[in-house]
Amino acid sequence: MKYRFLFAAFAFFLPLVAGAEDAASCPDAGRAPFMTNVYGRDYTLLNGKWNAIVDLYDQGRKMKVYENRTAKSGEEFYEYSFEGGLRLNVPGDWNSQTPELKYYEGTVWYARHFNAAPADGRRQFLYFGAVSYRCRVYLNGEQIAAHEGGFTPFQVEVTDRLKTGDNFVVVEVNNRRTVDAIPALAFDWWNYGGITRDVMLVSTPETFVEDYFIRLDNNSPDVINASVTLSDAVSAAVRIEIPELKVSQELMTDASGRASASFKVKRLQRWSPDTPKLYDVLVTSAQDTVREQIGFRNISVDGTQILVNGRPTFMRSISFHEEIPQRRGRAFSQADAVMLLSEAQALGVNMVRLAHYPQNEYTVRLAEKMGIILWQEIPIWQGIDFEDDGTRAKAQGMLREMIYRDRNRCAVGFWGVANETKPSDARNAFLTSLLETGKAIDTSRLYVAAFDLAYFDEESRHFEMHDDFTKKLDVVAVNKYMGWYHPWPVDPTEAVWDVAQDQPLIISEFGGEALYGQSGDRRMASSWSEDYQEQLYLDNLEMFRHIPNLAGVSPWVLFDFRSPYRFHPTNQEDWNRKGLVSDQGYRKKAWYIMHDYYQSIKSSGR
Ligand code: GCU
Repeated sequence: MKYRFLFAAFAFFLPLVAGAEDAASCPDAGRAPFMTNVYGRDYTLLNGKWNAIVDLYDQGRKMKVYENRTAKSGEEFYEYSFEGGLRLNVPGDWNSQTPELKYYEGTVWYARHFNAAPADGRRQFLYFGAVSYRCRVYLNGEQIAAHEGGFTPFQVEVTDRLKTGDNFVVVEVNNRRTVDAIPALAFDWWNYGGITRDVMLVSTPETFVEDYFIRLDNNSPDVINASVTLSDAVSAAVRIEIPELKVSQELMTDASGRASASFKVKRLQRWSPDTPKLYDVLVTSAQDTVREQIGFRNISVDGTQILVNGRPTFMRSISFHEEIPQRRGRAFSQADAVMLLSEAQALGVNMVRLAHYPQNEYTVRLAEKMGIILWQEIPIWQGIDFEDDGTRAKAQGMLREMIYRDRNRCAVGFWGVANETKPSDARNAFLTSLLETGKAIDTSRLYVAAFDLAYFDEESRHFEMHDDFTKKLDVVAVNKYMGWYHPWPVDPTEAVWDVAQDQPLIISEFGGEALYGQSGDRRMASSWSEDYQEQLYLDNLEMFRHIPNLAGVSPWVLFDFRSPYRFHPTNQEDWNRKGLVSDQGYRKKAWYIMHDYYQSIKSSGR
């Protein structure tokens, strides 16, 4: 019985180990790196309290703590034990669980026992929603997997390694920042570490439905394109059913276990922010049935407009990090998703830019139910070494994992490949390879990147940006902090833009900081006051009136969020205060300005 080790789609190495024994082999370029829709499978959650060892000097591998030995004779002793020490909640970052770990960057060993009852004819997988930032997984004393990337899932088959009854799993997690990581050495958010999303033991039939992609044809709103891949290279019948549409489509997989088909549907109600219609979908094979809900919509570009189901739609967006500020920790649950998206919806959005990395599935799936379009991106965020092939392979792997996880999620309208990169041949080649990687898997969405290169040209007296790479994108996005990082060169009423004129332009970040409750001079940035932030928003909204190809705006940011960049002792205290809502959940004056702006756009029918 073969089983597939999954190693991340790029080399895995840690400062704590020499050599490349974890050098990973890329998974087959065309295969999904993990099963699609894990929540629609037969799984047991392995969440809860795990035992933990903080290994600041990376001694654990040398000590083979994953073997979990205990002394048996007089002379034996071990300078570790997983029993009787630190206990950490999984899922969850470690930084927010004990004061001692608030700033911790390094290795933590997680471990737990779990019972299993492997059954004949069933396969078993360990599935991790995300581990930040890199990890190795050990089962019953042996390494079985490694993964790098803090925001996408991975799985490893354990069918032939599981014991009936007690099993012992260990996860060596390290969140140290490195120059070749993504994100790299410095970034404007907290470097949370830990097993930050659900962990499951998944049971599947011997041959199971491994992957599928079921979406509306880009050009024919009454045609559904579907592809299904079985776990094994076998030619067999598979079926796609959408009962409400009276669809029951049989496909035959080829010798590699893949099948695809297109079929017409009648009376399909397309998903949109106003009508977030989802259909029950079943994908079945001889041994397997996978259920989920899928929405069908089109998103496209026409000149400088973004169309949803053929209708010009202005993107009323906001950004948020995957963080619950009141808990000072990573968001990971359904309840967290409700909190974040409800506050976004209250602002009047039809879109959320999930900054700056793929966020958990609860958030993505809830946004879909709420009718909120998503921009998801991989954390290509400043300081990336575009010359390095290993970094490029990592970025491609992260993009593949993000797309394979969420390409059935109709709420995702945009794949973002970069944030604030500087033009160079190496950058262009790197990002072009990402676009090629993404489009090999999914062309049913728009590809976008955010740039911070717009400037005020003294001659033309317009805002301009010259970066040829923008032509390769479906939508161009610009981060611009007028009134914060950039003083106004002209009055906002005269701030005319001439950027990517023949493409849709989204202002993907703007804003300024304010400490909730702090009053001050509305013309003094250093007042860090709500009054200043309110005026800044009024000025920027005025400027937006002079951007002819404006297709959307996304203020930075919904909530104050934690960042080591932000160390002003009274105004920041390790918090980026650009939130429209404070770290305690209180709305600042600027929130109401933005709310009214979105109300006016909604009532104008845009
Ligand atoms: C940048 C960046 C954000 C950052 C923001 C800021 O544009 O994209 O991640 O937090 O500006 O400076 O607050």
